[in-house]
Amino acid sequence: MMLDILAFIESKKQNFNDLPLFGFMQDQNLHPRKRLSFAPCMAHFIMSFSDLNKYVFLEKQPLNKIQSIINQHAYEDEEHWSWYLNDIERLELNSNINFTQGLRLVWNEETKITRQITYQIAGYSYQAIPEIKLIVLEALEAVGHVFFKMSSKVASELRVISNKDYYYFGDAHLQVETGHTMRTPGAEDYIEKIQLTDSQRQQAFEIVEKIFQFFTEWTYELLAYAQKHGVESVENQAETSLMACI
Ligand SMILES: [Fe+2]
Ligand SMILES: [Fe+2]
Repeated sequence: MMLDILAFIESKKQNFNDLPLFGFMQDQNLHPRKRLSFAPCMAHFIMSFSDLNKYVFLEKQPLNKIQSIINQHAYEDEEHWSWYLNDIERLELNSNINFTQGLRLVWNEETKITRQITYQIAGYSYQAIPEIKLIVLEALEAVGHVFFKMSSKVASELRVISNKDYYYFGDAHLQVETGHTMRTPGAEDYIEKIQLTDSQRQQAFEIVEKIFQFFTEWTYELLAYAQKHGVESVENQAETSLMACI
């Protein structure tokens, strides 16, 4: 039954929630802008996620109800990259670099996990049966929910300072993510009752395990990037401006 897999995803989600990146994002000693300063590191995956929805998850002619649910979901998620680009500008992370420098940033050693998750997700999902695609989506949604819940808190703290709205990292996105059609009671009920064969079940558990494993690695890459490239902490900034006064 699908229900066991969903319960497994839920337990993985609880552990994911405790990772150091999320502690960093809640650290009140740091300026909220620093707490989102990993944003450029995410570029490859956020932009590719649109392509995954359009060219990997979606099937133009859905043959069953599960694929129709996936298609609807893919339509709902495929355009979020434009909010991300807006936020990069609003976070003042849109540094003045040229095209080749931009490509070097995206295809850098420091951002390699970000790229790998795109390929791993595509690997599990491309031409897979709808049941497997749906499990991949459920795991991605669980990861996304933890992340956006945390980022929306930081975005609202930052909003107080900057007076700007952040669509990707902020509340607007979280609301879209929690309002997916897949999350309506009728669809949830249907999904929970999907039957899987033993080998599909085993494959599903392995995929969920792996997805959480590489998203866990991702959080460390994001954290390292923010610590290296992020703006200074509130305390340091205060100290620096104090020094300037003296
Ligand atoms: Fe999204
Ligand atoms: Fe989503």
